[in-house]
Amino acid sequence: MAYVGAPNFAATNAIYTKQSLRRINGISQPKKLLFSPLPNYKMLRMTMNLQSKASDKDEGSPWDDKGLLQSEELYQYVLETSVYPREPEFLKEIRTITANHPEFYMGAQPDSGQLIAMLLNLINAKRTIEIGVFTGYSVLLTALTIPDDGKIIAIDPDRQSYELGLPVIQKAGVEHKIDFKDSPALPVLDKLLEDNENKDSFDFAFVDADKTNYGNYHERLMQLVKVGGVIVYDNTLWYGTLVIPEEKVDELMRTERKYFLELNRFLAADTRIQISQVTVGDGMTICRRLF
Ligand SMILES: C[S@@+](CC[C@H](N)C(=O)[O-])C[C@H]1O[C@@H](n2cnc3c(N)ncnc32)[C@H](O)[C@@H]1O
Repeated sequence: MAYVGAPNFAATNAIYTKQSLRRINGISQPKKLLFSPLPNYKMLRMTMNLQSKASDKDEGSPWDDKGLLQSEELYQYVLETSVYPREPEFLKEIRTITANHPEFYMGAQPDSGQLIAMLLNLINAKRTIEIGVFTGYSVLLTALTIPDDGKIIAIDPDRQSYELGLPVIQKAGVEHKIDFKDSPALPVLDKLLEDNENKDSFDFAFVDADKTNYGNYHERLMQLVKVGGVIVYDNTLWYGTLVIPEEKVDELMRTERKYFLELNRFLAADTRIQISQVTVGDGMTICRRLF
């Protein structure tokens, strides 16, 4: 049942194509339909008048981007001191594979991953849902963290990208924990909800997909995740654009900017959850279901 007072989040079933971005970038024929909720990384940096890092890929991986931090050096310090030394080799391998993907910037950042692993351990998560898999960094991270009989429902319509990371997942010996659904997420969540056994049965959900459906995912996940369980939404500070006047934000980012402004207000007012807005990566909102 929908939460009384919930805004009417239109179910868009959106799958974003990058055709327009490719046209802007002078690439006329997209290689395939790409499902990207994010504008082109390099363009994004240019439009926000930030120094492009994508062009000096050799000097650092795409994940060296400082995210919301305003100090590249501080972000490097965090990665080199606390994150990389603890990052499992299999996850490093997925990052390396992802670096050669045309949409490499969509891969999860390892410091965000470290926080997710911590949350999974703190709540002893066993059954999880992942919306937005891409090449599989966060799915592999989850699979490495939950117990051997744990299960992840991992949903993404882009099987091709998932298959890039799949050999690493297989090598890590955790493929049996992953039930990959090659589909947009809404129909999968609705199908899960048809079976009462699935209600209140998941410990954790990570949402990192089409941004303008987050409200729709929230209403469904609030029925699937148990009381005391955790839902994490990624990109909730949308590259810092939330505090930039709309007219100064590139048009490509305005829809999501507006959407996150509304979603963040909504989550803050949702008494069913305890929240923490974390400034790691592009902003993550951690929600713990209270009732
Ligand atoms: C930012 S990436 C996810 C990154 C991933 N969590 C990781 O660890 O690298 C976003 C993903 O969302 C997927 N996506 C887009 N629309 C979707 C939808 N309606 N349902 C599920 N996934 C979707 C895209 O195909 C893309 O792979």
